[in-house]
Amino acid sequence: MIPRELKKKLMKKNGISLSEYIDFCLYDKSHGYYENISRIGHDFTTSPEVSQLFGECISIFFLYLSNLNLFQDLNRIAEFGPGNGTLISDIIRSLNSYNKFNKINISLFEKSKNLIKHQKQNLSNLINPNIEITWLNKIESLDKNSHFIVCNELFDAFPINQYIVRNNKLYERRVVYKNKKLLFEEYPTSSKLLNKITELKDGDIIEHSCEIEKLISQIFNHLRLYGGAFLLFDYGPYQKANVSTIQAIFKKKKCCIFEHPSRADITHHINFVRLKEISKEYNLFSIGPIPQSKFLNMFGINERLDSILKGLSSNKIKKKLESEFFRLTSQAEMGELFKCMIFTSKQIKLLI
Ligand SMILES: C[S@@+](CC[C@H](N)C(=O)[O-])C[C@H]1O[C@@H](n2cnc3c(N)ncnc32)[C@H](O)[C@@H]1O
Repeated sequence: MIPRELKKKLMKKNGISLSEYIDFCLYDKSHGYYENISRIGHDFTTSPEVSQLFGECISIFFLYLSNLNLFQDLNRIAEFGPGNGTLISDIIRSLNSYNKFNKINISLFEKSKNLIKHQKQNLSNLINPNIEITWLNKIESLDKNSHFIVCNELFDAFPINQYIVRNNKLYERRVVYKNKKLLFEEYPTSSKLLNKITELKDGDIIEHSCEIEKLISQIFNHLRLYGGAFLLFDYGPYQKANVSTIQAIFKKKKCCIFEHPSRADITHHINFVRLKEISKEYNLFSIGPIPQSKFLNMFGINERLDSILKGLSSNKIKKKLESEFFRLTSQAEMGELFKCMIFTSKQIKLLI
């Protein structure tokens, strides 16, 4: 069923842009997918939801960075798009066990009011005089100090637009409602992407998100001005092809993005090369994209698995933990599909 408010938007001449459609489906205050789910994990499972091992390796990386003494007073962590709050809660729990920091400041940025409610509930028992958690809605409110910034599967849930090449001209693929059906129609565009046309062939599709470019530039600018590191995990190939990568998942099954508006999750592949390009404009250093498994191996997932297994007596729980480990690291599962990138204000060297 198509929500009435969405149909009303679609009455406009030439329909709506794909990014408006995605923004409505995922984030509309009443109908948005993220405003109505009870928790992340219902239609798709993310790495922090698979296992605590994921967050524990990230906290080792954070400790490694703070021990380098390259970034001043690195005891501030910011997460964008925390979902259920699982990753940050695993990071806090793990850092608490190392007793290195007197105080850790956590800032969370979350677009969905519904998920903020869940995060507040899920994190309430971790707040104490040494752990301060604040929810912010714009990056300008972040302390003007060095930060460790992290996100998992944030940008693949951002609205994007698509442009297609036809006879050496560029057209925007817009969403229209015709004969009781949602579909794409192509309209001539004056998009800035037109200057890329010479590199493209007929039928090529370029995906572009103004929102990703804006947020990533703000994050990079913060790192450039105040120092720190940005660790990101997301979904996509090393080099994005000029094809449509948009996909929807409804009740754990792939479907067409027009099939269950507002009830299906919609994602696309990240353009890691573009992120690297933007980071250069801010004079940052970058590592990756590397497979998620490589990062996890570097920051102790095997050792952590062994140490937890040693303390377990139940074979059933051991098997469960091993299968979570396999899911996070195996090539056939999330280990290779998901990539990791690291951006820093000062150069760090990792043995990749
Ligand atoms: C695919 S979920 C991933 C959730 C979590 N990071 C995890 O790995 O389980 C995407 C998350 O990003 C949030 N989000 C999307 N756009 C955002 C934005 N512009 N600012 C902050 N959060 C955003 C969503 O509401 C959701 O919490």
